[in-house]
Amino acid sequence: MKNLLRRSLSTPLSAFFSVLSLCSFGCIAAPAQAPVPDSPAIEAQARAMISKLTLEQKIELLGGIGKMSTRAMPSIGLPPFKMSDASVGIRTWGPTSAYAGGVALAASWDPSLARKIGESLARDARARSVYFLLGPGVNIARSPLCGRNFEYLSEDPFLNSALVVPYIEGVQSQGVIATVKHFALNNQEFNRHNSSSDVDERTIREIYFPAFEAAVTRAHVDAVMNSYNLVNGVHSTQNPFLNLQVLKGEWNFQGILMSDWDSTYDGVAAVNNGLDLEMPIAKFMNAKFLLPAVQNGHVKESTIDGHLLRLFRTELRYGFTSRPQFDPADSTYSVADRAVALDGALESITLIKNDGHLLPLNRDKIKSIAIIGPDAYPAVTGGGGSSEAHAFAPVSILVGIGNLLGPDVHVFYSPSLPDSSDEKKAVSDADVAIVSVGFDAKTEGEDHDRTFTLPPGQDALIESVAAVNPHTIVLLTAGGGVDTSRWLDKVPALLDTWYPGQEGGTAVADVLFGLHNPEGKLPISFDRSWESNPSAKWYYGDPKDNTILHTTGADGNPKDYTIEHIHYGDKLMVGYRYWTTTGQHPLFPFGYGLSYTSFSFANLQVPATAESGSTVPVTFDVTNTGSVDGAEVAQLYVSDPSAKADRPERELKGFEKVRLAAGQTQHVTISLDARAFSYWSESAHKWTIDPGKFVIHVGDSSENTPLSADINIQ
Ligand code: BGC
Repeated sequence: MKNLLRRSLSTPLSAFFSVLSLCSFGCIAAPAQAPVPDSPAIEAQARAMISKLTLEQKIELLGGIGKMSTRAMPSIGLPPFKMSDASVGIRTWGPTSAYAGGVALAASWDPSLARKIGESLARDARARSVYFLLGPGVNIARSPLCGRNFEYLSEDPFLNSALVVPYIEGVQSQGVIATVKHFALNNQEFNRHNSSSDVDERTIREIYFPAFEAAVTRAHVDAVMNSYNLVNGVHSTQNPFLNLQVLKGEWNFQGILMSDWDSTYDGVAAVNNGLDLEMPIAKFMNAKFLLPAVQNGHVKESTIDGHLLRLFRTELRYGFTSRPQFDPADSTYSVADRAVALDGALESITLIKNDGHLLPLNRDKIKSIAIIGPDAYPAVTGGGGSSEAHAFAPVSILVGIGNLLGPDVHVFYSPSLPDSSDEKKAVSDADVAIVSVGFDAKTEGEDHDRTFTLPPGQDALIESVAAVNPHTIVLLTAGGGVDTSRWLDKVPALLDTWYPGQEGGTAVADVLFGLHNPEGKLPISFDRSWESNPSAKWYYGDPKDNTILHTTGADGNPKDYTIEHIHYGDKLMVGYRYWTTTGQHPLFPFGYGLSYTSFSFANLQVPATAESGSTVPVTFDVTNTGSVDGAEVAQLYVSDPSAKADRPERELKGFEKVRLAAGQTQHVTISLDARAFSYWSESAHKWTIDPGKFVIHVGDSSENTPLSADINIQ
């Protein structure tokens, strides 16, 4: 790793940018400040601030200002607090560090990486005076079409929860508020303002809530962002089930609930149903709507005070009113961040196909290489929309490979299939051909879905290169699965790079040439076709189910919206839950990923019986049976064959990433808590364990679990 980093940092650009480190201008370091717990003193201070405000001033503070800030109130010593998006990098002004975020982070299956990325993002935020980081996004990858899957994590609530907790802890440990988003059920981008995700409560509780629940109850996230979409016919910003009953009630969320940008539709309903802050400005939670509502009794002033109490209390706990958020100890351009970005890319790149052990390539034997395709250059670090971060010196796949190979290897590059016959020879004669395809910030991003097929011409490009060069390796840049049907059996190797962040090219080169053993595992089931995805037939609403929502526009005039109802008829059968329950198979299963070494699993120990609600220790051994060092993700799935309710055949309830030298064995212990055996009972309206037989499966993907053992829960 150290050598690799030296190589990546030897570029002239990095030397230039290092002078931008603001501490080099001589500044005083302010230590990162993690939030203090709530206390009577903070509560009293927040209430004292509220008591000095007129009703008009209170209402004013319920909305943001500009595009990315809370409002100031100098009379009570309240400055404005700046926000920034951050799914892959801090997006405020100028260039930044861009990490393997979202789905790439999920492909790493590494909670410690999540923590490191969270800390780095927060330091980047402090270096830019940002108080609120508008991430992480944790919506479930229900369909590969959702344009923002790349910003989110995986198809599995347990994996999302396991990653979001350290991520948030990392962000908040640095004195920056994390904002988990988008609450809830924002699983598609089409028609996002006017679609209603209509889902039964059990599915919401088991699939779509857990990552938010973990963010609140385990990581103590201090801000939550509502989604654009409606949930079961009610806009999320005014949805009492989401905001009052569950978030602030059952989960006891004490922080700030903000709207997504322009996702508030009714000021009175929002203020009464839990929304603390309308962003980016108060179009609805403003004096025009709220003053008369207070006067006529539709909104209580104490409700407004409650929202302000959350805002002030949280901001005071972070010391926002008493210390500068700008932390000169944090670099705007950070060499340490580059190492984190490189780790992220290295850990997430997923080897999907490697016929005949074509990979790793032997550096000594490669004399010529053809690198073809639109994603090879310039670097594609992330998808598009509000998360788009502009990295300082992103390393493209072309440059990353070129840097690694050095001057003695001939590199032929073309963004598309060359026309001239000479160049076509260059492709066929090359020792190896890399075809780098997929999406980019224009074709996969916010506010629109993407296609399951690759962008126009890319299938044909792969086929043409594969037809002339048998050593064709496809590199895929995408937030999820794509249609590979035209070319997968014609190419020997496929690597999924997701969106690898700014160091992606360096990491790809290291993986291709065996300097790093691939360790990513699919955080999604890779579908054969869009139609085979379990959500496909439920993905769009039926126009005959459309309803009209009568409301009042920001101008005070009546306004009607046509709402498209999306019935999540796939219910619990998301991703591998569907495939393992039906006994069918996707193209590549959730959890799958190849390595340059091999691993075996043995000695599973599970107690024969356990008391319902007790913690169950599960142990087993993982051995690196190959000849090179590598990392494996041991995955634990639980089946509940004696449940009274229908349950998915298996569900992920534990995992552990182990790094093993060739020949080494590691003894792994995973503790299963009560939730690992529970389902949400609609009739009992609570998490329930039906006593009886459960089966514990351990292996390296949702479909390959060589170890299994029964346990009787009493
Ligand atoms: C996105 C949010 C983002 C906000 C601010 C919205 O369009 O949905 O995720 O945080 O913009 O940029």
